[in-house]
Amino acid sequence: MSTENNQTVVVLDFGGQYKELIARRVRECKVHSQILAGNTPIDALKQIAPIGIILTGGPHSVYAADSPHTVKELFEMGIPILGICYGMQLMAYTLGGEVKPCAVSEYGTVSATYDDPTCALFDGLKSETVTLMSHTDYVARVPQGFRGVAHTADCPTAAMCDEARKLYAVQFHPEVERTREGTKLLRNFLYKVCGAKGDYNIDDVIEKQIKAIREQVGDHQVVLGLSGGVDSSVCAAILEKAIPGQLTCIFVDHGMMRKNEGDEIERAFKGKSLNFVRVDAEKRFLGKLAGVTEPERKRKIIGEEFVRVFEEESSKFAGSFLAQGTIYPDVVESGLTTGAVIKSHHNVGGLPKDTKFIGIVEPLRYLFKDEVRALGRRLGLDETLVSRQPFPGPGLAVRCIGEITKERLDILRDADYIYREELAKAGLAYDQFFAVLTDMRTVGVMGDGRTYNYVLGLRAVKTSDFMTCEYAHIPYETLDVVSSRIVNEVKGVSRVVYDITGKPPATIEWE
Ligand code: XMP
Repeated sequence: MSTENNQTVVVLDFGGQYKELIARRVRECKVHSQILAGNTPIDALKQIAPIGIILTGGPHSVYAADSPHTVKELFEMGIPILGICYGMQLMAYTLGGEVKPCAVSEYGTVSATYDDPTCALFDGLKSETVTLMSHTDYVARVPQGFRGVAHTADCPTAAMCDEARKLYAVQFHPEVERTREGTKLLRNFLYKVCGAKGDYNIDDVIEKQIKAIREQVGDHQVVLGLSGGVDSSVCAAILEKAIPGQLTCIFVDHGMMRKNEGDEIERAFKGKSLNFVRVDAEKRFLGKLAGVTEPERKRKIIGEEFVRVFEEESSKFAGSFLAQGTIYPDVVESGLTTGAVIKSHHNVGGLPKDTKFIGIVEPLRYLFKDEVRALGRRLGLDETLVSRQPFPGPGLAVRCIGEITKERLDILRDADYIYREELAKAGLAYDQFFAVLTDMRTVGVMGDGRTYNYVLGLRAVKTSDFMTCEYAHIPYETLDVVSSRIVNEVKGVSRVVYDITGKPPATIEWE
C-alpha cells in the first residue's frame, strides 16, 4: 500500500511475540506502522525515514552468542527510539551500559513506580501503576547520557531515557492490555517525542488502495479466490469498487469446508454484481493430500493446488492478475519480514514459477484484521460477513489431524456442526470455536459393545488479535450436551475432550 504521505513508525523485530500488537497499537493511535527485521540495514531505515522506531522484546539475553544485536548507528540517526524489554536491554548494551541477570526474575503483572514525572513518556500518567513484566535480565547500569526514570520492587531500572538524543526504553510491555495506561505511554512516545500528526485512518486507506489497484491493474482482468471469509470478502468488495467489470471471483470448493458452507457462500455472492464461479475440486485436493500427514506439507500442497485451480479456471482470462486476501499477520507470521517461520499461511507463498498470471494484487497485505473489518464496514459489506470468525485457508485440513479422507472429514464436519449449533442455542459466541478430529483412537463402550474410535477435540478461544488467546470457559452444561450429542450422533467418535491451552504456548489451530 502506498503510504508515502503518511508518517511511519518502524517496529524493529528482535524476536518478540508482541511485535504485531505493538504495530497495531501504533495504528490505533492513528500513526502508520511497519514491522521490519531487527537487522534491517541503516540505509534501508533512512530511506523509509520513520518518525520513530520501536525495538521489540525478545526471548534472548544480549550476552548469548546467538542473540540478535544492532549497531550504534541506529541510535545516531537522530530518530526517536523506544526500546521495549529486550529492546531496552539491547539499547543499554549497544550504548555502553550494563545488562545483568535479575536477582529475582519478574513474570506477570508487577507494580511499577514512574519516578520522574518530567519524562515525556509518563506525561499525564499515574506515578504508581500496574505493568506486565517478562524478563530475566535487567539494565544494571544505564549508558552515559541516560537516567533511570522508573523502578519496581525487584527491578531498579524499569525505564530509562536520554531526552537529548530522544532515546527511551521500558523494561515492561506497554503494548499489552495488562499494562495499565500502556497505550497512553505509547501515545506519549508518538505524539510528544516523535511529533506524530495522527494522519493514518481507514478512509485514506480505502482511497489509496483503490488508486493503487487501478494503477497496478490497468485494463487487465483480475481473478480473486473468494472463500467467503472476512479477508477475501473485503478484498472482493474493494476490488469491485476499484475496477468494476474487471473482476471474476472464483470459489474453489476444495472439499474441506464446514458443513453446508459451500452452499452458503454461493448464496451470499451469487446475486452480487461480480462474476461468481464455483469450482468443485474436492476429488482433486483429496487426491493430492492422500497419505499426507505432516502439517506443513498439507498447507503447501493446498496452497499450490489452489493457485493451479485458479490458473485453469482463469485460463480464459489470459494475462490476468491473481488477487488474494492476504493480510499483514499472514505476511509477518510467514517470516517474510522477519526471517522466522511460525506457520506457512497458505496464501502467502506467492505465485508458482510457471504461472500464467502476470502478477498478484493484495490490497489487504498491510492491514491487521480489525482494520480489514473496519474497511469492510466502510465498504458496506453485510455484518454477518464482516464479523465472521476466521476460518483458515486450508480449511478443515488443519483440523483433521493425520490423514485426510472424505470419511474423516465428514466425521469432523458433523461434530463441528453439532458444536456450533449447541453454542448458538445456548447463546454463546466466542472469537473462534471449532472441532478438531485427532488421529488418536481410544476404547469406548456403547450399549454392550466395545468401540474403538477417534478422540475429538473442541476448541473455543477469546482473543482480540489472534496472536494470543485464552481458552474460553464454556459452561459445563453446554459441554455436556455437545459431548453426548457428538458421541451419540456421529459415528466414528468415542471420546470428546476440551482444549484448555492458551496461545502461547499453543496456537489456535492444532496444526
Ligand atoms: P494459529 O493457529 O496460528 O492461528 O494460532 C491464528 C489465526 O489464523 C488462522 N489461520 C489461518 N488463516 N490461512 C488463513 O487465512 C491459514 O493458513 C491459517 N492458519 C491459521 C486461525 O484460524 C486463527 O484465526
